[in-house]
Amino acid sequence: MLLRPAAFRSLRRWAPVLPLLVLLAGACSPDHYPQTALRPISDFARIGDDIQTKTFYWALGVFVLVEGALLYAIFRFRGKPNDAEPRQVHGNTTVEIVWTVIPALILAAIAVPTVRGILQTNAIPKGETLNVEVIGHQWWWEFRYPDLNITTANEVHIPVGQTVSFRMGTADVVHSFWPPRFAGKRDVFPNRETRLWFKAEEAGEYPGQCTEFCGIQHGRMAFRVRAQTPEEFQGWVAHMQTLGPKPAKAAAAPDSVRTASVGAKVQGPQQAQPKNDARQNAAGKDSGSTVSPPVPPQDPAYAAGEKLFLAKGCVGCHSLNAVDAPKGMIGPNLANVGGRSYIGAGTFKNTDENLARWIQNPQAMKVGVLMPNLGVSADEAKSLVAYLRAHQ
Ligand code: CUA
Repeated sequence: MLLRPAAFRSLRRWAPVLPLLVLLAGACSPDHYPQTALRPISDFARIGDDIQTKTFYWALGVFVLVEGALLYAIFRFRGKPNDAEPRQVHGNTTVEIVWTVIPALILAAIAVPTVRGILQTNAIPKGETLNVEVIGHQWWWEFRYPDLNITTANEVHIPVGQTVSFRMGTADVVHSFWPPRFAGKRDVFPNRETRLWFKAEEAGEYPGQCTEFCGIQHGRMAFRVRAQTPEEFQGWVAHMQTLGPKPAKAAAAPDSVRTASVGAKVQGPQQAQPKNDARQNAAGKDSGSTVSPPVPPQDPAYAAGEKLFLAKGCVGCHSLNAVDAPKGMIGPNLANVGGRSYIGAGTFKNTDENLARWIQNPQAMKVGVLMPNLGVSADEAKSLVAYLRAHQ
């Protein structure tokens, strides 16, 4: 008999758990875990995924062989009541050498693709790349496109099919940049530039996350990667390049952040354009953003919001310019905040309600965030929402 009564009893004890396990396995649908490295959609991510898959199958083979030998030995050589004392052995040099050499060879074999992957993923990409500077802040991400002279925050737009080359730094403490569907984690440091590159394969909006503990809101230091078709990306760039300082009073650009951005070239048109033309480009084909129609600047709420943005001091920490954006700002760039999917660095859906709640009481939504409560009334918040929503 294969199972003794005791073993059978213990199996019966665990039987009720089985449906639960089945249920749990069902919950493992990849759609429940958008922040996964197991569904790669870039060349970089595939390198890591390939190594992981290969290693997994190696391990599976080892598991089957070892456990098979173990089970075979258990049943083939199991003791019977009247058996004599088995022969006692103390070491076997041949067997010990064999079981040392085999794992060493396996590790050496795994090292080949691993080391190759390390070299590949750390190489500086050659050829036509889109350059993006990533600057970590407590607790949000700044994205600057030095060759396009545009800046945005928390949602990095990239074209599908072109290698994007990230040069990364931080304005304060160490963070770690991780867009799991596209690439592995890479730390960002105050005094050292780190690099990351990948070529996106699929358009869509994907989550990213800071993965180095950087303070109380480390967990809410997320971001979105918005991969777009080349045409949509060009449209987005062209639109962003219209969001510059008003010609009359160009903003000074304090250069207090230590990053890779040296000698950003100014190019592209900066002609004024009504804000409400922006919508088509900003939304792109990405779904999931809850963007209401932009409020025309003539709207009284917009005008009131514009005044409040100055009066409440918002302007001291946030720039509304995508073009010639100042460096070293404490708060995220808001040039296209109205069209983003999330606020609070990938944390809350960008609805009017959430935006109003945030403006009135950011500390309640993201405890310890550097934005103080500014004593904004509900009506004032409405106006500010109208004003910011128009910035798409
Ligand atoms: Cu930034 Cu954790």
